[in-house]
Amino acid sequence: MTEQLDQNAHTANSKTEIYLKDYKPAPYQIDEVSLLFELSGDDALVTALSHFTRSDAASTEPLCLDGGPFMELVSIEIDGIPLKPDDYVKNETSLIIHDTAADFTLKIVTKLKPAENTRLEGLYKSSGNFCTQCEAEGFRHITYFLDRPDVMAKYKVRIEASKADYPVLLSNGNLIKKGQMPNGFHFAEWDDPFPKPSYLFAMVAGKLACLSDEFTTMSGRSVELNIYAAEEDISKCDHAMQSLKNSMRWDEETYGLEYDLDIYNIVAVADFNMGAMENKGLNIFNTKYVLASPETATDQDYNNIEGVIGHEYFHNWTGNRVTCREWFQLSLKEGLTVFRDQEFSSDMQSRAVKRLDDVRVLRMHQFPEDAGPLAHPVRPEKYIEINNFYSATVYNKGAEVIRMMHSLLGAEAFRRGMDIYFERHDGQAVTCEDFVCAMEAASDIDLRQFRRWYSTAGTPKLSFTRECDGDDVLLTVEQSISINGAEIEYDPLHVPIKIAWVDKARSVNGESSENNAPPTLLHLTDAKQTFRFEGVGKNVVPSIMREFSAPVHIDHDLDTEELLTLASFDIDPFVRSDALQTIGRNIILTAAQKLESNEEFHAPESYYSTFERLISDDDTDPAFLAELLTLPGEIDVGQHMQPLRPQTLHKAREFVADQIANRYFEPILDKYNELQAFDECNRPKQQGVRRYKNTLLGYLARTSVGEDILSKQFDNSQNMTDEIAALGLLSSSDFDYRNTALAQFFERWKHEALVIDKWFAVQAVSKRSDVLSTVRSLLKHQHFSFVNPNRLRALVSSFSVLNQAGFHDESGAGYEFLADVVLKVDRINPQTAARLVAPLGQWKRLDHARQLKIQSLLDDLLKKHSLSDDVRELLEKSLN
Ligand code: TRP
Ligand code: ZN
Repeated sequence: MTEQLDQNAHTANSKTEIYLKDYKPAPYQIDEVSLLFELSGDDALVTALSHFTRSDAASTEPLCLDGGPFMELVSIEIDGIPLKPDDYVKNETSLIIHDTAADFTLKIVTKLKPAENTRLEGLYKSSGNFCTQCEAEGFRHITYFLDRPDVMAKYKVRIEASKADYPVLLSNGNLIKKGQMPNGFHFAEWDDPFPKPSYLFAMVAGKLACLSDEFTTMSGRSVELNIYAAEEDISKCDHAMQSLKNSMRWDEETYGLEYDLDIYNIVAVADFNMGAMENKGLNIFNTKYVLASPETATDQDYNNIEGVIGHEYFHNWTGNRVTCREWFQLSLKEGLTVFRDQEFSSDMQSRAVKRLDDVRVLRMHQFPEDAGPLAHPVRPEKYIEINNFYSATVYNKGAEVIRMMHSLLGAEAFRRGMDIYFERHDGQAVTCEDFVCAMEAASDIDLRQFRRWYSTAGTPKLSFTRECDGDDVLLTVEQSISINGAEIEYDPLHVPIKIAWVDKARSVNGESSENNAPPTLLHLTDAKQTFRFEGVGKNVVPSIMREFSAPVHIDHDLDTEELLTLASFDIDPFVRSDALQTIGRNIILTAAQKLESNEEFHAPESYYSTFERLISDDDTDPAFLAELLTLPGEIDVGQHMQPLRPQTLHKAREFVADQIANRYFEPILDKYNELQAFDECNRPKQQGVRRYKNTLLGYLARTSVGEDILSKQFDNSQNMTDEIAALGLLSSSDFDYRNTALAQFFERWKHEALVIDKWFAVQAVSKRSDVLSTVRSLLKHQHFSFVNPNRLRALVSSFSVLNQAGFHDESGAGYEFLADVVLKVDRINPQTAARLVAPLGQWKRLDHARQLKIQSLLDDLLKKHSLSDDVRELLEKSLN
């Protein structure tokens, strides 16, 4: 057989759109699969034995198996009889068998070249170890199969490999048997008793060290816990292990959900397309979300690890035990599991700060997605490449949709709804609709209109206006959605609005700010609706969207003084923080206008005095103070500037920050010194202190002591949080010490890949005007890699996503840079290339000259190059 195994060529016939409305149940079910992996050198021979039974007895359709272009078909037989060439047809994406019985066993042998697989999908090698990634459609690159989540089978797996080279052999489920073979080979046999879709299959073979522990479940069963990593990294797995045990306990306590196998394995690999993968009993993780030590990982890294470990663990019930019918239902498992990991982290740390962080992520990444050419509903209706829908919308807005149901039902009814969901659907592949039905069954809340959140793209804007009627207040709310700058028509959404009233007079007296009336949950269901609040009086400020009760833009008519009342006295952390952010944003936008017309600008005195009061506040949680004292970022403010003028915006924000820094230099410095002296104690507190301290450092960097204080912190820091905070500020500066620090940091950490990622990232987000040429030259640095997604994103995405002013350089060179990188990476790893495209889709928000530059780049890419489906789908959408 002559097979062309070019791993890098993109298939000539590109995929077409797949529609939710076309869903049909699978023609066959596969109840049992047994897989044999013979690993030798860099090759893998895979023998798959699957038992098929026809679902629809009347059907005579030929059997169409999914398959990829990168594997060689070695042999194929049915019930022990080899198929003749006429019995089947094979092309790049499928294998069609003409005449199949109602019940049969298929044996297929395929040969793979994992070492050449830079797509990091299917079976590949990372740092010399074999590993797999099958979600969403990677299993079809291992063998021909019905590679769809509604086909659920029990898997038995046998792995054979050289014992010296691959001492660790892992797959899903429980280890049944292992032993020696001739010629220095050994084998292991794994058995997963739970039927699962192919996307949850996993296999690992490699040289790995192991950290082991144990967990006793609520019913008293003992579970063996293992984290596998490279020998030199195994000392950095303790935090991940602790997070795993915390997750297991949390899910028992919160949802009564217990782990269901005797063993839970996690493997950390350096080359990985995303964060981590919830394969049944064998999670595979990006090293970034496992490895941590105080010297090499920031507090943020620690929190991310806790969140991702929790996320993958929680998938065992929300994703694995109950899975998705097809990929349009992706948010069924992802939105729900993000909600669960957010709640877990809230319970482990500070609920208030976690909510602010989650809202910030949503606004920074999901809102722009939802307002631009890549906007799609939480449950998309069509796609070309499903990998492009592992989006902020499906994950983060999906989590907000679950959170809104939680608010509408209340915690108790929500929990009952979860119980009903598992009672009804354990072991099944189901839909978002099934989830909502379970929630309805648990409560008397009518969610008929609420369901529209699943099918409506775009972020609703809520506009609030007030009117007094005697002692009553009439609050009118209007909802609307704009995508690509144009208002769309849609059936109104059911929006939960949590609101309370803050008394101005009482606030001023320093009394409790809460009005007599408790917070209310309003149900906005019409396009425009008026709510009457009886007897709240005239002297009140509405505290709107407490806890950020819905994923919406908030537009209201509160003036600066009213916002400052909320900022100072509201008891809701979101409303407090958002009030200050809103003022900060308005100040920066006004400063930008004044800059453009060469006028002088001064922020209102009352804003400054609030700032000053916060610096001298010793009672409030330091992490929360850090949040309050941070000016809104350029990306955030940019969403309110039409058209976006990135450089003006940048200058305006710098101007405001400089003013604050120099005006309050002394109190900021005093506070900084006080916090610096604060001894290390328990993690959340200490973490909050560092966050606050490093926020203040950002202001001090703008003053006469800037270079001195940054170099001191850089030289003396005992942990990565402080070290990278100082280096980041140095990297943006013109100080002499800048280059020294960058060089020192590189020398100190050049053997720690995850730390070197940070070194690339701090240079990519630099505010210096030479950032573009720096980033270009870093592409040629010997430690840069187009093949390792972490390294690639550390440089490229940090620049294109986070460095608004740098990326949107007037010359358009930032766009050319990104287009070049996308093309290059597309030949190596289409999934990861596609994840770089989004910034080019933002052109409608820019001025005409920039629009033309991006349009012609997109046009060129599409016309002149052969592209993967992944990248092509996004470029085509982005151009529209
Ligand atoms: N399901 C995984 C999660 O949410 C993410 C995932 C989807 C993924 N596709 C992937 C991870 C491809 C790596 C590669 O945690
Ligand atoms: Zn997930």
